[in-house]
Amino acid sequence: MDPITLDEQARAILSANDRGGYTVPTAGLYPYQWNWDSAFAAWGFATFDVARAWAEVETLFSGQWPDGMVPHILFHKDDPGYYPGPDVWGTEGHGPIPSSGISQPPVAASFVRAIWEADRDAGTARARALFPKLVAWHRWFMDWRTERGAVCITHPWEAGRDNAPDWDGALAGSDPVGVGEYTRRDTTHVDAAMRPTKYDYDRYIWLVQQGRRLGWDQAALRRENPFRVADPTMTFILMRAHRDLIWMGQALGEDVREIEGWVETLTAGAATLWNPEIAAYDAYDTRAGKFAGCVSSASFLCWYGGVDDHRMLDQIARVWDAVTFPVPSHDPASDKFDAKRYWRGPTWGMINALIGIGLAAHGHVSHAERLRASTAELMAKHGFAEYFDPLTGAPAGGGTFTWTAAVWLAWASPQAGRD
Ligand code: DGY
Repeated sequence: MDPITLDEQARAILSANDRGGYTVPTAGLYPYQWNWDSAFAAWGFATFDVARAWAEVETLFSGQWPDGMVPHILFHKDDPGYYPGPDVWGTEGHGPIPSSGISQPPVAASFVRAIWEADRDAGTARARALFPKLVAWHRWFMDWRTERGAVCITHPWEAGRDNAPDWDGALAGSDPVGVGEYTRRDTTHVDAAMRPTKYDYDRYIWLVQQGRRLGWDQAALRRENPFRVADPTMTFILMRAHRDLIWMGQALGEDVREIEGWVETLTAGAATLWNPEIAAYDAYDTRAGKFAGCVSSASFLCWYGGVDDHRMLDQIARVWDAVTFPVPSHDPASDKFDAKRYWRGPTWGMINALIGIGLAAHGHVSHAERLRASTAELMAKHGFAEYFDPLTGAPAGGGTFTWTAAVWLAWASPQAGRD
């Protein structure tokens, strides 16, 4: 298909998913503003409407809690087609707008940098206004989510990789007793075989109930929540985001020493996620003191985080050779690999973009280009789906997906400017 046509289609998806100041990930399945989806949307908007890109991030930060946390969902308007909504989260009194009680991978600072680079003069006042908000959010992660310098999640939804096998061990440690009856909505929009199982969903809802019971008090959650897993997604993404925030701070004449200290902490923390048994960066269950034993697409975010680990080049070569369309979200050699089920195998364009940016930044240019070209082929052949079967390329999950379209515009398209 003509790449110009694809650019137009991608822009049309962003516009169609625009709800005025924020973009939904896709109509129906995800009817609110999701944190990292929105940051990717802003990156996509920056390629054709930079004012709209700034607005996207500003709306996201309008939901920031006084303690610095930026929630993973902002419920701007009620939508009965989604579960669990604001009444289930029970976060009243915490933030300025109804929201969930957890966060999501902090890609925003890196995309704010990209937006500002596309709008260097006119955007300075907006970058200046966002800078302290980004610092406060990053500080919240450092205060409440780090263990041995690696960044932890308190819910699988916080990593954004909901049903990754990385969490299986830690979820098995929570018994969803008393979770009660509830009606899922996701499986009314999308084939249940492409979504988390009921076993997983019971535990997701139970963990939301735990957070609510603890009043979303971070000290209590750190002490009592049974689920606290150090996550390569969070750790590498925050490392990168800290560096982009340093770049912004220096350009704005701000003191960035505190952020530099955070980079050092996370660099040491990332090293603790190396699991010698699988020769890869891995998730680590801090409650049980155990690695998950999973090579995931998040393992390959090391370069994005700033860790040029040649051992991971061997891993990526192995995983690439096992599929047609890399990078699968879970190791195809594992018995837990499931080519269609969300984060247990499918390839996600937005993770590919982050991996590709990291590879290119460390001079692994042919790897980066191969990944970009194969991601572009997926989107050109199968459209802007939520995710793709890595064996056949078949589209899966929701269609006309915001972050897939944004990634096309900002990274995968042959016309996209890359650095
Ligand atoms: C869902 O509803 O499945 C989302 O992934 C939660 O963030």
